[in-house]
Amino acid sequence: MRLVLAAGVAAICLFTTVAAQQTSNSGTSEEKPYHVEDGKVDKSTYNGYRRYGDSCLRCHGPDGLGSSYAPNLVESLKRLSQDQFNEIVINGKNEVSTSQQLVMPSFGMVEDVVLYLGDIYAYLKARSDGALGRGRPRRLDN
Ligand code: HEC
Repeated sequence: MRLVLAAGVAAICLFTTVAAQQTSNSGTSEEKPYHVEDGKVDKSTYNGYRRYGDSCLRCHGPDGLGSSYAPNLVESLKRLSQDQFNEIVINGKNEVSTSQQLVMPSFGMVEDVVLYLGDIYAYLKARSDGALGRGRPRRLDN
């Protein structure tokens, strides 16, 4: 139990660090979080693709396109800011609709997500901007 708690606290600290880094980079807000060239992506975006496959795909479907259970994130990222995205993934979301109850789990304690949140965002943003097609992207040599 102690260990689990310690891991949780570590994850929160790590997220704070990641968030601080992202904020300090936000002066260049015009800059895209991804780099795509001839359908090839940078390391971070590729990592985001992989992490998405590990942690999000089972609900949000292949290529971020949504499923009968969870929304299409390619569409969601057209309106959500990166901060809103981070907030939802860290804290989860639980909107009770009239017909069914859908739960977006909180990933605040999941290190493999918290640490690579920026990468996952980059991948989904590239998909959302139409800069990246479906399927496994190829990697740039970097
Ligand atoms: C267990 C299924 C499940 C998993 C796994 C999951 N989600 Fe979700 N997610 C949902 C559901 C359901 C919603 C809609 C919740 C609502 O509207 O209240 C949602 C909503 C979201 C939203 C808000 C979309 C919007 O339009 O407001 C974002 C962003 C999101 N998820 C990102 C992610 C990311 C990134 C991952 C992987 C790290 C992930 N989700 C993993 C089920 C899941």
